[in-house]
Amino acid sequence: MDNLDQLVANARAAFAEAANAAALEQAKARFLGKSGLVTEQLKALGALAPEQKRERGAEVNRAKASIEAALTGRREALREAELAAQLEAEALDVTLPGRGAASGGLHPVSRTLERIERLFQSIGFVAVDGPEIETDWHNFTALNTPENHPARSMHDTFYLEGREDVLLRTHTSPVQVRAMLAHVERYRGQDPMPDLRVIAPGRVYRVDSDATHSPMFHQVEGLWIGERVSFADLKGVVADFLRKFFETESLKVRFRPSFFPFTEPSAEIDVAFKGGALDGRWLEVAGCGMVHPNVLRSGNIDPERYTGFAFGFGPDRLTMLRYGVNDLRLFFEGDLRFLSQFR
Ligand code: FA5
Ligand code: MG
Repeated sequence: MDNLDQLVANARAAFAEAANAAALEQAKARFLGKSGLVTEQLKALGALAPEQKRERGAEVNRAKASIEAALTGRREALREAELAAQLEAEALDVTLPGRGAASGGLHPVSRTLERIERLFQSIGFVAVDGPEIETDWHNFTALNTPENHPARSMHDTFYLEGREDVLLRTHTSPVQVRAMLAHVERYRGQDPMPDLRVIAPGRVYRVDSDATHSPMFHQVEGLWIGERVSFADLKGVVADFLRKFFETESLKVRFRPSFFPFTEPSAEIDVAFKGGALDGRWLEVAGCGMVHPNVLRSGNIDPERYTGFAFGFGPDRLTMLRYGVNDLRLFFEGDLRFLSQFR
């Protein structure tokens, strides 16, 4: 075999042996590089006589073209093999069943809040809200709470650093005052002023923590002001609400005389657990009473002319009673094993 044919055969074998692009480039250099075997043949032409040079030159060039064609072919083959390997490695099995989107659900306390809003809306109450960072005036002073009242102490209330006039509201009662002021403003000059009927659901904060107290909890304030609103109306509205909320006519409810600076007379409302480990135990679910004249005055309402009642429910406790849960803190720990039971 002619040495050029041998050279082409060697190049083909070397290219075929190259297992990847890098190895192929090295093999290429050996044949087609600056001091490669083909280049050597071309350089050797210089020593030949013109006649031989033309003949031999054509032969060398043919060999060079064959080697270049072999190189291109091998490059192509390697690229295809690489692509095939990549496709294999990154293959998606589109026939696998999907992971699916987990279906969420409302938090049990949110369900209770929605239920309360629906029930009160059905008897003409409008839902309003107020700020969670509240002024000392709305939270305490306007609610007839004296300067030295224990609820104002650092042990019971979260104050804001460097600000003496604001705090995290300890109850939703400040919304009573905001609602009264807005109502009076809205119906200025109208006589008599239409009844004010609002509920105010929201988060409140106290320095508290045990099975029935959480440092963040919810309240739903209620307020009805009008010309002839009485304690009998309060009892009627609350009893009716509780029976509808718990879907039972036989609910055990009691009004227990109590004290709040912002109501007179005042009561706490207790509901008895039914069934389960806590069967028969009373749980306080709300405070209530007739709005104190001083509070009406804070809201620019004439206490000689208008009266009203107010209540403040603890919807977290209502949720405990409704679902028979015995530790309120479970609602706020975010454990899905607990929460997903209410979906
Ligand atoms: C008040 O907060 C009064 N503002 C309620 C009120 C409104 C009275 C209008 C009169 C007129 P009290 O501190 O009792 O009252 O709280 C009301 C309800 O919130 C309680 O009956 C209870 O159900 C709930 N509650 C109180 N503290 C917590 C707590 N730390 N965690 C969960 N629920 C609580
Ligand atoms: Mg109480």
